[in-house]
Amino acid sequence: MKKYNVVVVGGGSTWTPGLLKGMCTRKDTFPINRLVMYDIDAERQQTIGEFAKVLFNEEYPELDFSYTTDKDEAFTEDVDFVLCQMRTGGYAMREKDEKIPLSMGLIGQETCGPGGFAYGMRSIRDMVELVKDVRAKSQDAWILNYTNPAAIVAVALQEIFPEDNRILNICDQPENLLRSYGKLLGMNERDFDPVYFGLNHFGWFTHLYNQEGKDLLPELRENILNGGFRPADAEQRDQSWLDTYAMVEQMVRDFPDYLPNTYLQYYLYPDKVLNKLNPEFTRTNEVQAGREKRVFEDCARVAEMGTSKESNVVHNDAHGEFILIVAESIAHNKGDNFIVILKNNGLVSNLPDDAMVEVAASITVNGPRPYAVGEIPTFYKGMIEGQYAYEKLTVEAYLEKSYGKALQALTLNRTVVSAKQAREVLDALIEANKGYWPELR
Ligand code: G6P
Ligand code: MN
Repeated sequence: MKKYNVVVVGGGSTWTPGLLKGMCTRKDTFPINRLVMYDIDAERQQTIGEFAKVLFNEEYPELDFSYTTDKDEAFTEDVDFVLCQMRTGGYAMREKDEKIPLSMGLIGQETCGPGGFAYGMRSIRDMVELVKDVRAKSQDAWILNYTNPAAIVAVALQEIFPEDNRILNICDQPENLLRSYGKLLGMNERDFDPVYFGLNHFGWFTHLYNQEGKDLLPELRENILNGGFRPADAEQRDQSWLDTYAMVEQMVRDFPDYLPNTYLQYYLYPDKVLNKLNPEFTRTNEVQAGREKRVFEDCARVAEMGTSKESNVVHNDAHGEFILIVAESIAHNKGDNFIVILKNNGLVSNLPDDAMVEVAASITVNGPRPYAVGEIPTFYKGMIEGQYAYEKLTVEAYLEKSYGKALQALTLNRTVVSAKQAREVLDALIEANKGYWPELR
């Protein structure tokens, strides 16, 4: 069986240990020849890189592993897969994305609302550079991208590299939801044949067929209305994620047609969610006190003890697993069905062709072969068109360095609405993102 050369971009991410453990579990189905971790933050990456050496020594001794901050070392002619999960500005900037809007009474969130806008304006530059760096050496390498806000990154990359059909933007949230549905129904997530439409962090499941062709969505809806909704891995989750999943019940009560992505809570109930967000202690602070602390302490301990046998910080997380099973489906032309982000081109027939939609697709050696969704009802179409216009304007604001387009984008965002507030938050975000954003005029 062919062995693959893989680069992980964002080696110092809190998600990396889960990804590396996933590689160990999948070494028979997705064998890796050489793995290089790459990050611009040497210190964070070193802690995880030293953990990785111990882990691989025990679980994957045949693997050629290294980590580097030198992109010429990372990206070479013979790379097959680039697994990308970068965070421009790190958690320090995520904290600002959350706290600046919250200080003005607006939703402060990593990928939604003004925070997502700010993060998008930062991510585009580094993602464009990444694609150029990879392509300078290899036209064939697959770039599987988790980098957020994936919706905006996808629109930007499509605009800048329209001919490149080996970039695939993905998100693990639909996968997390499938796992959670599976838990409620006593099924494995892979046994669903889902129908899903929308934009990234802005979509709905319309059907969930089982292997016998029965749509289980009506049963699930009843289940959620009667017993609420929890993530499959609830025991590994912080309270804010449990609250987020719990909001699905409310969304299903108000809009019972379909099952919503959890991120829709920010757009449908900004007032209610705002009441629950603490402007002094946001999700970033929770992550830093929780996952980040645990991951880095665990990695340091493993490196010191020289064994990974007691390491239990991440197990079986969808983030690490999902990108690997997508890569495997490409590598072995398996045609497995996953929900991914791609150019609409008529898949949702009453949405613009150039929208980057999130839908189910069979993933083959030629990339995604998506399933058409057809026409969607007016409510969902209206929601998506507004959000897509916001995303498009964000990318245009970046490319044209346009203050006017940035103001239009934020005004269109459902979590903002008021042009006055849009201007206030934009001005504050410009100040906070100096050096990361192009200068807007
Ligand atoms: C989900 C989303 C990701 C997002 C992550 C944030 O996995 O799909 O796009 O980055 O949640 O999780 P966190 O625990 O860092 O708040
Ligand atoms: Mn996501």
